[in-house]
Amino acid sequence: METVLVTGGAGFIGSHVCDRLLLEGQRVVCIDNLNDYYNPNIKKKNVKHNLRNKNFIFYKLDILNFKKLDKLFSKYNFDKVVHLAARAGVRASINNPFIYEETNVRGTLNLLELARKYDVKNFVFGSSSSVYGANKKTPFSESDEVNEQVSPYAVTKRAGELLCSNYHNLYNLNITCLRFFTVYGPRGRPDMAPLKFTHRIFNKLPIDMYGDGTSARDYTYISDIVDGIVFALNKNLSFEIINLGDSNPITLKDFISIIEKSVDRKAVIRKEPMPKGDVLITYADIRKAKRLLGYKPKIKISEGIRRLIEWYKDERN
Ligand SMILES: NC(=O)c1ccc[n+]([C@@H]2O[C@H](COP(=O)([O-])OP(=O)(O)OC[C@H]3O[C@@H](n4cnc5c(N)ncnc54)[C@H](O)[C@@H]3O)[C@@H](O)[C@H]2O)c1
Repeated sequence: METVLVTGGAGFIGSHVCDRLLLEGQRVVCIDNLNDYYNPNIKKKNVKHNLRNKNFIFYKLDILNFKKLDKLFSKYNFDKVVHLAARAGVRASINNPFIYEETNVRGTLNLLELARKYDVKNFVFGSSSSVYGANKKTPFSESDEVNEQVSPYAVTKRAGELLCSNYHNLYNLNITCLRFFTVYGPRGRPDMAPLKFTHRIFNKLPIDMYGDGTSARDYTYISDIVDGIVFALNKNLSFEIINLGDSNPITLKDFISIIEKSVDRKAVIRKEPMPKGDVLITYADIRKAKRLLGYKPKIKISEGIRRLIEWYKDERN
């Protein structure tokens, strides 16, 4: 049995990763500072079902607390690390760039430094499609230049990748940086469109449509992302940056229609200008993920939204 550290393990993606690793018989140490970027009770609920599992150990811990992190690494001698703890959210990073820089850059450096010190076998870093910024060429490929991010969040994610690359070069750590494309599904982040729109359409509240509705996102279902993370964790790829997306961008207009159909209610739409920091399109080239990881997204948008809404209905009761 291997011991895997999952940072940000009470969050949306992290909690699903913990579930999958436990299912596969690993011992999981999950850390999260349960901050209030969104309601911390949601995060507590994300991990609650695992608290009685003897292979699941939870610590409320901040990745900026290097001393405590060091003690944790020394106690558990982790085989592998999945580093997902971060301030996420493009728009909020414009209002409060400092907390993004601290958490996403220093926090990542803390983990890399300890992974090096304690000889971790494999390190997976949760990066983001936002590093492609306003790139015009689609689909976005890992070999494209990524020098023009449009939000502080995206810059911190790119900085995280560069630190990973540097730690690989200096210390030969095995590291895979995975660029996630708009992840959605049960336990989704309440600040992101899939869950926000679902909630608002259900409750007959207006939704904001930024721009003319032709901006597009490569929505990727959570179980496909977890597949990709676990594939990467089980390979030693030396150092790689790999896109994890669905490779099927959906326009905002179409996305709203899909939710309307699944909820069986028309949305009340408020048109708003595109916010600063948002990009017009995300679209993943996933050939590298297929080749190196055997990654193949399985859940189509209609099925993914159906599952999200089923979960949402259960949660409300
Ligand atoms: N959801 C997406 O579509 C998406 C897309 C691209 C990249 N990502 C990346 O994936 C990762 C997970 O995202 P998510 O959507 O699950 O977000 P999330 O906010 O639900 O999860 C992040 C978790 O990290 C924790 N955290 C934040 N700062 C911390 C700190 N200083 N110490 C310890 N824990 C801390 C938070 O409390 C939260 O539970 C993040 O790194 C994010 O940047 C997500």
